[in-house]
Amino acid sequence: MSLFYNSNIEINEKIFEPREETEKIVDITLKYLKDKMDILELGTGSGAISISLIKRMSNLNITATDKSVEAIKCARKNSVKNNVNEKINFIKSDWFNKLDSSLKYDIIVSNPPYIPIENKKLYKDLRDPKNSLFAKDYGFFEIKNILKQSSEFMKKKAFLILEHSHHHTLQFDHVLKYYKLKKVITEQDIYGYDRFTVIKNF
Ligand SMILES: C[S@@+](CC[C@H](N)C(=O)[O-])C[C@H]1O[C@@H](n2cnc3c(N)ncnc32)[C@H](O)[C@@H]1O
Repeated sequence: MSLFYNSNIEINEKIFEPREETEKIVDITLKYLKDKMDILELGTGSGAISISLIKRMSNLNITATDKSVEAIKCARKNSVKNNVNEKINFIKSDWFNKLDSSLKYDIIVSNPPYIPIENKKLYKDLRDPKNSLFAKDYGFFEIKNILKQSSEFMKKKAFLILEHSHHHTLQFDHVLKYYKLKKVITEQDIYGYDRFTVIKNF
């Protein structure tokens, strides 16, 4: 059991271990949150982000998804341990594909796989499941998949908040217009690298 933000999180060998730097995405998301908002987390893994958010603001409606059935099981267990199991709706889904598109969200948040699969050899020591870490197109492939479909699931004035590699910052500038999205801000990690981008649809 380890502490992530304000939550006790347990993982097993099939689950991505939440990193300390990801705590910043919780803080960034909190800046945009208002009471009773509808939140969607994509790729919840251990549930760390969603559980931490609901513990800070208990009247949110959170849906959290992951493609991995093991991750969904683990996230559910962690939500029970943190006494928030009745407040998060966990769904096994490949990004948006099992979601009802008539439901729209105020905020979509995600820490997707973004390590370039092309550099896989350099990351031999990481124990996390490969499909939680690596993405094609120098790490931008899954981010692009999320960008492609996000608008369809966003309310009229909504935000999309993503963790990414510092190598991706300029790529956002190139693709966002194409998806009718706009960059609000890119924020840095504790080492000063661009690692989190807030996007809006209005
Ligand atoms: C970097 S981990 C982040 C986990 C957790 N949100 C965190 O920050 O600790 C990425 C997560 O995305 C999930 N994932 C990968 N591809 C996916 C897809 N196509 N649809 C949904 N989830 C996916 C993985 O199973 C993994 O749990």
